[in-house]
Amino acid sequence: MKVLVTAHRPDETEIFERVNQKYHYELTFQTEQLTEENLELARGCEALCINAGCHVTEQFARRLKEMGVRYILTRAAGKDHLDLEAIQKYGLRSANVPAYSPSAISEHTILLLLAVLRKLKTQLRRIEDQYFFITGLRGREIHDMTIGVIGTGRIGSRTIKDLSGFGCSLLACDQYPNAETAKLARYVEREELLKSSDAVILHCPMTAENYHLIGEEALGRMKEGAILVNTARGELVDTWAVCEALKRGRLSGFAMDVYEHEGLTQRKDYRGKELDDLLLKELLSMDNVIFTSHTAFYTDEAISSIIETTLANLNEWETTGKCQNETR
Ligand code: NAI
Repeated sequence: MKVLVTAHRPDETEIFERVNQKYHYELTFQTEQLTEENLELARGCEALCINAGCHVTEQFARRLKEMGVRYILTRAAGKDHLDLEAIQKYGLRSANVPAYSPSAISEHTILLLLAVLRKLKTQLRRIEDQYFFITGLRGREIHDMTIGVIGTGRIGSRTIKDLSGFGCSLLACDQYPNAETAKLARYVEREELLKSSDAVILHCPMTAENYHLIGEEALGRMKEGAILVNTARGELVDTWAVCEALKRGRLSGFAMDVYEHEGLTQRKDYRGKELDDLLLKELLSMDNVIFTSHTAFYTDEAISSIIETTLANLNEWETTGKCQNETR
């Protein structure tokens, strides 16, 4: 079967080829992201392998069907980039990789939180400038904090488990609490979590209901000087409101691995160029804002696991007609 792998990074090739020894698919690698403009690349392929940067819209799904594509394999845990209704309407099938490595995201989340708490951005800049004074660098300890996690699925529950080793107080909020997590964190309503947490961590998916979950109103309910960490999806946060809250000192720090308008800059080279995204430019100028460019997932372990599951998803459809990771 012909499989087109889009948004392919060279470091994935060796892993794809190793895993594919089990399946013998005819893999074609394409470094470009698949868009409405270059969709013809998919013609003649039965399966299309994409990532979270590829938005499968109704129009996209219709054209894929017409070109003979049957399967869409996303190398992502989130599925907010897939119009699932359209996929179903055109008789396509899609699958994701729901749990490739919750630890990868959890560890990155804690890294970002620590980076804000220990003013790492300023520290690194000073060291690069060979300026070795420590004035203004006094940090805070996780140990003494109350940390609230919104969304305690695979990743949120892992973050809570990992954070529990720091000895902090943990609050959690999820409409589906899980018993293991309840041993380590106290489940509360979102309102209480926002009011009582020194740091709020987002680990819930982006859905229509969750759009701008953290906007002006939620920010107003948060503790004065709290920290916000978002490693889930950019659109969960009204970034403009967060920027204002940082300027007023209502938030003392913001760490994001995902950014609301990341499509404008993600995986692009802006070195030496002026950023036309003024909101991002302003955030990047702030010492208390840490930004990583959607890399929480990017570890050796996670990449192997993503590729193994992606090809196993396709094989499952082929051999059984079903796939346990089919997105619905
Ligand atoms: P999951 O589906 O296992 O858990 C999500 C949990 O959030 C569920 O328990 C759900 O009930 C809860 N939830 C949904 N809306 C909520 C709300 N408004 N308030 C409280 N809880 C709510 O998903 P998983 O695997 O834990 O992933 C979470 C998200 O992390 C993904 O949807 C994806 O967007 C993001 N992600 C980011 C990555 C990165 O590289 N930065 C990599 C992988 C995932």
